[in-house]
Amino acid sequence: MKLRSKDLISAADLEKREVKAILEEAEHMLGTVRKGRQLKMLKGKILATLFFEPSTRTRLSFESAMTRLGGSVIGFSGTEGTSVRKGETLQDTVRNVENYADGIAMRHPLEGSARLAAQSVKIPVINGGDGANQHPTQALLDLFTIKQEKDLRNTRVALCGDLKYGRTVHSLMYLLPMFGTEISIVSPEVLGMPEHIMDEVEGRYGTRPEKQASLKEAVKWADVLYVTRIQRERFPDPNEYERVAGSYVVDSRLLSGAKKDMVILHPLPRVDEIKPEVDSTPYAKYFDQTFYGVVVRMALLNMLMGGGRHG
Ligand code: NCD
Repeated sequence: MKLRSKDLISAADLEKREVKAILEEAEHMLGTVRKGRQLKMLKGKILATLFFEPSTRTRLSFESAMTRLGGSVIGFSGTEGTSVRKGETLQDTVRNVENYADGIAMRHPLEGSARLAAQSVKIPVINGGDGANQHPTQALLDLFTIKQEKDLRNTRVALCGDLKYGRTVHSLMYLLPMFGTEISIVSPEVLGMPEHIMDEVEGRYGTRPEKQASLKEAVKWADVLYVTRIQRERFPDPNEYERVAGSYVVDSRLLSGAKKDMVILHPLPRVDEIKPEVDSTPYAKYFDQTFYGVVVRMALLNMLMGGGRHG
């Protein structure tokens, strides 16, 4: 199935049937990757990864996904060595890249940058994070991971940490309620979920995510604890960051109040919000997420860059 748009810019642009199709395609991809099969759907196609901001997982998993589909990759990571340093605009950069590649996966510090890029070129643009706004492919792989562990319907997901600047949780807010997944939120007062997202989600789905009083309460309530890093780089005032740094930490003591089959997800990188002692517990699923990121991105690349049917 093709998506309605040539691009993936925001989770808010996706319809439920599209999300379902992406998840199904990712399941197929998972099967082939587990069998160690090399696919050829995107043979001869080139993906440009334009990363104006730091990234490890998102860029490398896009590159891995493209390579596993038989395609190839060009791109940059950081603007040093590019004409961006000479003052080239984003629009000019992508218009030129369009001559070298069949699709773009990009990350940029400015909100709205991916949308602008998508409007400037005819090839598909996939948003790998635009400032504090959206990170739809991460949210899709989060959803895929939850689906591997739980029935999406009626599962309770607690989003915690930096809900103000965290773009992955902004994207998740649109995807989870599509499947009847319950959301509640917990964060330091100054890092709450933006009201416009709360309002939009309520308008669309008729339910407003509940606020938990504390991380401890959230842990008791949750089937899935989705932990985020406090996004230091987005704080206009470093003192403000210092005031909240280290305020949300998941450790073994906290987890003594959790359901036995609760799972912990994190988009990574983590700083200190999940103690390493948690890694060896059955709750920890954040490294599985990294693996699923490849198959979800394979699905998306195939759907957007015109690969043939699976198999
Ligand atoms: C996230 C991001 O870049 O928004 N990382 C990722 O893509 N896996 C989360 C973060 O940086 O905290």
